[in-house]
Amino acid sequence: MEADPPAPRRPSPSGGDGRPGPGRGLDGLAQVANKIRDAVASVIEGKPEVVRLALTVLLAEGHLLIEDVPGVGKTMLAKALARSVDCSVRRVQFTPDLLPSDITGVSAYNQEMREFEFKPGPVFANIVVGDEINRASPKTQSALLECMEERQVTVDGTTYGLERPFMVIATQNPVEMEGTYPLPEAQRDRFTARISMGYPDPAAELEMLDAHGQASPLDRLSPVANAGDVRDLIEVVRAQHVAQSVRQYAIELVTATRGHPELRLGASPRATLHLVRAARAYAALDDRDYVVPDDVQDLAVPVLAHRLLPTAEAQVERRRPEQVVTELVHRLPVPSPRK
Ligand SMILES: Nc1ncnc2c1ncn2[C@@H]1O[C@H](COP(=O)(O)OP(=O)(O)O)[C@@H](O)[C@H]1O
Ligand SMILES: [Mg+2]
Repeated sequence: MEADPPAPRRPSPSGGDGRPGPGRGLDGLAQVANKIRDAVASVIEGKPEVVRLALTVLLAEGHLLIEDVPGVGKTMLAKALARSVDCSVRRVQFTPDLLPSDITGVSAYNQEMREFEFKPGPVFANIVVGDEINRASPKTQSALLECMEERQVTVDGTTYGLERPFMVIATQNPVEMEGTYPLPEAQRDRFTARISMGYPDPAAELEMLDAHGQASPLDRLSPVANAGDVRDLIEVVRAQHVAQSVRQYAIELVTATRGHPELRLGASPRATLHLVRAARAYAALDDRDYVVPDDVQDLAVPVLAHRLLPTAEAQVERRRPEQVVTELVHRLPVPSPRK
């Protein structure tokens, strides 16, 4: 039983110029993806690489974790991406008193009908923004994270499928901050990539001041693609070619994290899957129909680092998993491009 009807396929705003819609290949992808990228970039100043990564995760059918200090535009990025695609979007502000059923939904008894009725929660949307996810209790976090992997929800013994595309964009403050419950590793592993925003440079910050002159720039953002467009783009990405040598390279990188002397937890096979999937989308955004080792290298830190745990010694030395991954990228031999 489906809880929510699938999102209606509205005519594509991007198809208004008479270009072919569904079934479009890489050209169509680049065109639509660029529109989304430009829309988001019009709101988030000076962060093209962050915007590209966010889009990569969307097209790789993944989930995105944005982790950074307060006030650097995490919520803004999540909202901008959600708003640039005309699809169902729900935002959940995570707080310590939020319950699992506030995410998934509840069955309530309907007196008139004399039966239980399912009231779907905010997870029944194409894009779910989980803001400050590490402020909720682990139980509530895991309610969301289960949906992420299975793309379905079971409430009172009935399973409901989620929409397609289904993307969770979660934001969180760095774990060291007060009043947070750090996400357990098993749950971090469900995120395709973790990105941090970083401060804008002074020129971008000046642009930001100008853009925020009267209203929020978000209010000026209108959708440039719809859910159907995104489903099409995902199909194109899935068909991207990944040479055997590049697959091998991804596996070597992941394997090198396992048993690394500075790590007590290495990357999972799920991480390998996510890495290759993300590389397909990353290549497509670069207008290529094949993946090169550079794609894997660029994605290694955002896709792998958040899944790794440093040893106690490495922690004392203030060595971060990001550094370990960066060093591995430099150290491992790179396969020659395109077999
Ligand atoms: N790089 C940036 N580009 C545009 N606006 C930004 C940028 N960084 C921060 N801001 C602005 O700062 C404010 C706080 O951003 P917000 O997304 O709420 O932060 P966070 O969720 O990281 O705490 C917003 O008005 C946002 O537009
Ligand atoms: Mg925020």
